[in-house]
Amino acid sequence: MRTNVETVSTVVPDAAVVARLVGVSCDFSVRLPGRGRGTVHAVDNVDLAVERGRTLGLVGESGSGKSTLARLLLRLIRPTSGQVMLGDDDITSAKGAHLRTLRRKMQLVFQDPYSSFDPLANIGSSVGEALRVHTDLGRAAREQRTAELLDQVRLPASFARRRPREVSGGQLQRAAIARALATEPELLALDEPLSSLDVATQVQIVDLLGDLQERLGIAYLFISHDLNLVRSLSQTVAVMYLGQLVEEGPVEELFGSAHHPYTQALLSASPSIDPARRQLRIVLEGDIPSPMNPPSGCHFRTRCRHAMAVCADEEPAATQVGQLVVRCHLMTPTRDEAPEPDSPATTRRTSGR
Ligand SMILES: Nc1ncnc2c1ncn2[C@@H]1O[C@H](COP(=O)(O)OP(=O)(O)OP(=O)(O)O)[C@@H](O)[C@H]1O
Ligand code: SF4
Ligand SMILES: [Mg+2]
Repeated sequence: MRTNVETVSTVVPDAAVVARLVGVSCDFSVRLPGRGRGTVHAVDNVDLAVERGRTLGLVGESGSGKSTLARLLLRLIRPTSGQVMLGDDDITSAKGAHLRTLRRKMQLVFQDPYSSFDPLANIGSSVGEALRVHTDLGRAAREQRTAELLDQVRLPASFARRRPREVSGGQLQRAAIARALATEPELLALDEPLSSLDVATQVQIVDLLGDLQERLGIAYLFISHDLNLVRSLSQTVAVMYLGQLVEEGPVEELFGSAHHPYTQALLSASPSIDPARRQLRIVLEGDIPSPMNPPSGCHFRTRCRHAMAVCADEEPAATQVGQLVVRCHLMTPTRDEAPEPDSPATTRRTSGR
């Protein structure tokens, strides 16, 4: 059944939500060589809800706005318009001491752990620094708590005395997670946290993250280009294109029967997600357009094989299709006569990967 939904975030009830974006946009003013200034529309009218104790996977091409969206959700930057909610608190305009208190509840883990640690400080003092800033524990209690945090991420207490260059990338990423846990956050944003690690280490850290979530009830916003990792860690997935969410919903439904032509292309380009899909590759024509001048109507229309006249004139509304929320004119109730997006006539088959 297909129904129009006002916003994606209305799908999840308030009590279940740890953090929420409501109609959030974020523009950056940039200098253009010899042409004055321009505006990058990095995030455009996004509704998003992260549920307590669960993982929301966020996927999309490079430059689609994933990191900006994570920074907005954690209020590391302020939106140009819209509302950022942490539980029942509207934190859109929070600042100073109030914002620092809120930050304890939300932490960010970056892609490259080496760039997020002081190379000269040992790991124990970097983890302990988070405790010093955010708690009133004395020195001995901080050392004790640091050892507990390292243990939680399966590192021996002796690692506290090592410097970042004296441990492996995987071990340092565990230490980064320990540091993020120091403030007992409700939400961790993990921005491509595994992309610099080998596959075996990725699997170990995915297992660790799952275990921590089960024991501590933390919610994750998990950003990754690796769709297999997103599938293994997330319960819900949101797909971003040129600053907008184009499709979201429960992980198995999205991976099994995505409706948006962009999601379908993204999934088809990912190796061995689903054996039945391996032979079916949808090739996207052209590059992602500039976020300084996104196409009118549906932002994806310049690369979409199904684009119709209406796609240039009107932004597609969010439509609920089964458990998925999709922004595509093919899905609007009045357009049932339009071709199905994955019909053989409009999908290019290649000889596989
Ligand atoms: N501080 C900034 N000033 C100007 N433009 C910015 C700024 N931060 C991000 N952008 C632009 O906003 C858009 C979205 O960037 P963002 O880093 O959020 O994308 P992303 O989806 O995380 O990409 P990637 O997968 O490569 O990490 C890009 O066009 C980027 O150049
Ligand atoms: S709205 Fe139109 S252009 Fe956009 S994805 Fe749907 S069919 Fe393609
Ligand atoms: Mg990014």
